[in-house]
Amino acid sequence: MRQVSDIMASMEYGPSVEDSAAVRDWLKGRSFGHFIAGRFTKPGQTFASRDPSSGEDLAQVSQGTARDVAKAVRAARRAQRGWGAMPGHDRARFLYAIARTIQKRERFLSVLETLDNGKPIRESRDIDVPLVVRHFYHHAGWAEIAETEFPGHVPLGVCGQIVPWNFPLLMLAWKVAPALAAGNTVVLKPAEYTPLTALAFAEICAHVGLPAGVVNVVTGDGDTGAALVAAPVDKIAFTGSTEVGRGIARAVAGSGKKLTLELGGKSPFVVMDDADLDAAVEGVVDSIWFNQGQVCCAGSRILVAESVAARFETLLHARMQKLRLGAPLDKSTDIGVIVDPVQHARVLSLLDRAVGAGAELVGGQAQGCHIAPGYLKHIAPANPGMRDEIFGPIATLSTFRTPDEAADLANNTAYGLAASVWSESATVATDLAARIKAGVVWVNCANLFDAAAPFGGLRDSGYGREGGREGMLDYLTAPVAKPARDAAPAALTAIPDGLQHLEKGIDRTVKLYIGGAQKRPDGGASYEAQDELIPLGGKKDIRNAVEAAAGAQGKWQSLGGHGRAQVLYFLAENLALRRSEFAGLASVEQIEAAIRRCFYYAGFADKFDGATVAAKPGHLTHVQHDPHGVMGIVAPNGSAFAGFMSLVLPAIAMGNTVVAVPSQDKPMAALTLAQVLATSDVPGGVVNIVTGPRDALAQALAGHDGVNAIWHVAQGEALAATERAASDTLIPVWSPEPRDWSAPDAQGRDFLRRATRAKTIWLPYGA
Ligand code: NAI
Repeated sequence: MRQVSDIMASMEYGPSVEDSAAVRDWLKGRSFGHFIAGRFTKPGQTFASRDPSSGEDLAQVSQGTARDVAKAVRAARRAQRGWGAMPGHDRARFLYAIARTIQKRERFLSVLETLDNGKPIRESRDIDVPLVVRHFYHHAGWAEIAETEFPGHVPLGVCGQIVPWNFPLLMLAWKVAPALAAGNTVVLKPAEYTPLTALAFAEICAHVGLPAGVVNVVTGDGDTGAALVAAPVDKIAFTGSTEVGRGIARAVAGSGKKLTLELGGKSPFVVMDDADLDAAVEGVVDSIWFNQGQVCCAGSRILVAESVAARFETLLHARMQKLRLGAPLDKSTDIGVIVDPVQHARVLSLLDRAVGAGAELVGGQAQGCHIAPGYLKHIAPANPGMRDEIFGPIATLSTFRTPDEAADLANNTAYGLAASVWSESATVATDLAARIKAGVVWVNCANLFDAAAPFGGLRDSGYGREGGREGMLDYLTAPVAKPARDAAPAALTAIPDGLQHLEKGIDRTVKLYIGGAQKRPDGGASYEAQDELIPLGGKKDIRNAVEAAAGAQGKWQSLGGHGRAQVLYFLAENLALRRSEFAGLASVEQIEAAIRRCFYYAGFADKFDGATVAAKPGHLTHVQHDPHGVMGIVAPNGSAFAGFMSLVLPAIAMGNTVVAVPSQDKPMAALTLAQVLATSDVPGGVVNIVTGPRDALAQALAGHDGVNAIWHVAQGEALAATERAASDTLIPVWSPEPRDWSAPDAQGRDFLRRATRAKTIWLPYGA
């Protein structure tokens, strides 16, 4: 007979399966319709949602058609007026009621999530559902205080929300809670593999008496998602693959819909030579071996200091072998099953390719619908296993020698979602945290989430934030008091090189301003505006300007807010002294507004603070406002000088460098500014000015992956073309509403916010 001491030694114990009777009763023979206008519709054409661990059909759900989506959007639209106008306190009470009800049904929802998704019950019970509850409580709070915390802001309207299958209910909460708190109504489309908790959530909405139409759930696959993207909604919020994210960005281009994208990742997990290796190994468990590795922010690229690599691998390997693969509902299971046979096959095929390209796979075998935890070693940087998101429980393991090399390797990816850094030295860890390009960095921890801590990425990981103040702002808008139309540029005729002076008898040549120097345009041609021959910039000039801006950015940022403020004050002083040079090129109001803006943004340069947010106790969770890097700014054509300055100044005050395209019809004030910039200690490359065909230059900026954000004041097809070009590069495009650019409301915090993006750094305290 086995003794207790044997059991303690082997740590083998029998299964302890969570009771699923209540959930099975709820599901029994069910065929769900959609949840529209507060009630379930009759099921349409249905498909099965399956338990991936057994293949058993759990229930039938409806494949949403474009008509279903349209009906849901109409219901959401009808409900929005009342919901948006409701006092924040009343909305708060609904969100609070939802939180309370989810809390009361925690066990039910955990079991349902595990059945539908295949994740271990330990995770759905201890991580997913508690975070869902936290999210609704937190956002009940935002609803309560929104009026005073976001003065002048209003909800966007109806939000289409598309979520993936890896954290079905949690991703729903991340989307629905802030949208509702801000006064929007929603149409949510859950993933086709895992729609059941969203339907249970719909029941909860009905149960708490949420006004009909505030939350609508339409189930279905990618076609249903595409119909939602095409529907007349005001915002699309999407979490899922980068490929689908790109398609959505392309589909909404020019529609005026707001868009936030939370896409894939290939996040670095950096172990320095002085790290607590045991703790770092536990970090890997929580990182890539959490949720079968089906986590967008998983620390999937382990980078270890060469001097400790052998020891680290020994510890990692030993720990990996202790992880239990098992039935998802078994409370002692560490690794559940992959969400669907299609994903299972996708992960294995990527592993085959990685091994085929020379990597060695340790662990990682398929066992039925499981995939065992593992890692790829001896893997080259170009190996697909190193580059592509595997989305399974398989990390890559490689080494580095110096902290610089660690930072370079960490940033050697098209993604920028998250990173985890392990070092006992605060100096080393925070230095790396600052240098790694990612939306979230965990220092000596991994995969921590909280409703108060903004989450989101950059580059191929998308844009926008979920959680905290930043997340709320992505569901609000601050309307301009007096919007105006921007004058469309006049048709432009190129005057070829060589002919211009002869033809026009003009003895001076105006030039582009790139890298702190006057430059002739690459094509040598000009066009005529304001009785001058204006350089006709093109794609090559944009490339040169982006290169100059990228070269200047690091130093400009590290000058700090105070340093940049000094430069902006000096610029204001010089502008004031040289007012007369601008007379005739811009109105007095515009010149005065430009001078005022310099002072205003100099004042703000060291005051647009981040925050330490109240996330988990025992952690410093720091949200900083990082500059985007290189910004493309396409200024309005109308009130040319004030518009140009109103956009360029907040961008550079925050530490960005810019490639600015001034008004096509009235570029002379901006070109004159170039001379003032040069004498005002604005370092070369911080502001680059390229004149020419506005829309073509905007598209060149949008197609250049060295550009990190674009502001483009334009309407209609001009803006649509820029947004389409930016859908491939995934550059966020903001189109500030045209207005009187000399007016006081053409400056403010909104511009500063748009000039930055939040980076959340988690730092646990305690020894
Ligand atoms: P997916 O991006 O196709 O699915 C996510 C959601 O988008 C689902 O609700 C789906 O129905 C919907 N969708 C699909 N096509 C759509 C379209 N054209 N328009 C609108 N909505 C659409 O992801 P999939 O195929 O399930 O997984 C493929 C890979 O994507 C994974 O292997 C993983 O690498 C990545 N992924 C990343 C996630 C993340 O959290 N970043 C989540 C899920 C998948």
